[in-house]
Amino acid sequence: MVERTEAPDPRWAEVDGYIADRLLGTDETQAATLAANAAGGLPDIDVSPAQGRMLHLLARMAGARRILEVGTLGGYSTIELARALPAVGRLVSLEIDPHHAAVARGNIARAGIADRVEVLVGPAAETLATLDGPFDFFFIDADKPSNVTYLREALRLARPGATIVVDNVIREGRVLDASSDDSRVVGTRALFNAIAAEPRLTATAVQTVGVKKWDGFVLAIVTG
Ligand code: SAH
Ligand code: DHB
Ligand code: MG
Repeated sequence: MVERTEAPDPRWAEVDGYIADRLLGTDETQAATLAANAAGGLPDIDVSPAQGRMLHLLARMAGARRILEVGTLGGYSTIELARALPAVGRLVSLEIDPHHAAVARGNIARAGIADRVEVLVGPAAETLATLDGPFDFFFIDADKPSNVTYLREALRLARPGATIVVDNVIREGRVLDASSDDSRVVGTRALFNAIAAEPRLTATAVQTVGVKKWDGFVLAIVTG
């Protein structure tokens, strides 16, 4: 597969550093999360600190009490989202890899939010089928070819007004490639088509640059 990716502009990461320095503050808990992930050999594909804060703010803006995450990895985004919950709130995060889930559970316990968070191990499509709603916030960030399945399950489990956020939907512009044989691009384009055809969703996508290079998020609200 030929990847048309250009070198990232170094200013993207520099500006992320500026944002972190001015607005994010120090976070020893999340520094320990990333250290434990690295020690455990997990891939370095968590949301960035600035993106994590964005997820935290979106969940708070939504007043989320029940959050469903698809794709836990080491729990970096899980912790950002769970910190947005009130004491009575709950977050369920789905992860296929038992080692990722074990590292995440350690990180979640260190963050002091284990009482609010449950990590369920297994293929997310199978786990989702066993869940009951309602949830009021969804963060979809697992295997990209399954994104339409995850969207359909989120719609089934959503209360009216629920928020759906999907990571990695721009893929350095490869989302434009209608003839791509990359299943992640095919899955992402299918996700855009499914959202476009779904009258219950009011949606946009926001492109991002930074330490995660050029990518973006779908943001949607379930209106029906
Ligand atoms: N949300 C995390 C990053 C998730 S990376 C963060 O920002 O911190 C994607 C994760 O999805 C990986 O841990 C991977 O093991 C998991 N995953 C991949 N396929 C999956 C599937 N079919 N079901 C559940 N999880 C899956
Ligand atoms: C990958 C997955 C992600 O969720 C992400 O944010 C970045 C990269 C990946 O599979 O390469
Ligand atoms: Mg991601």
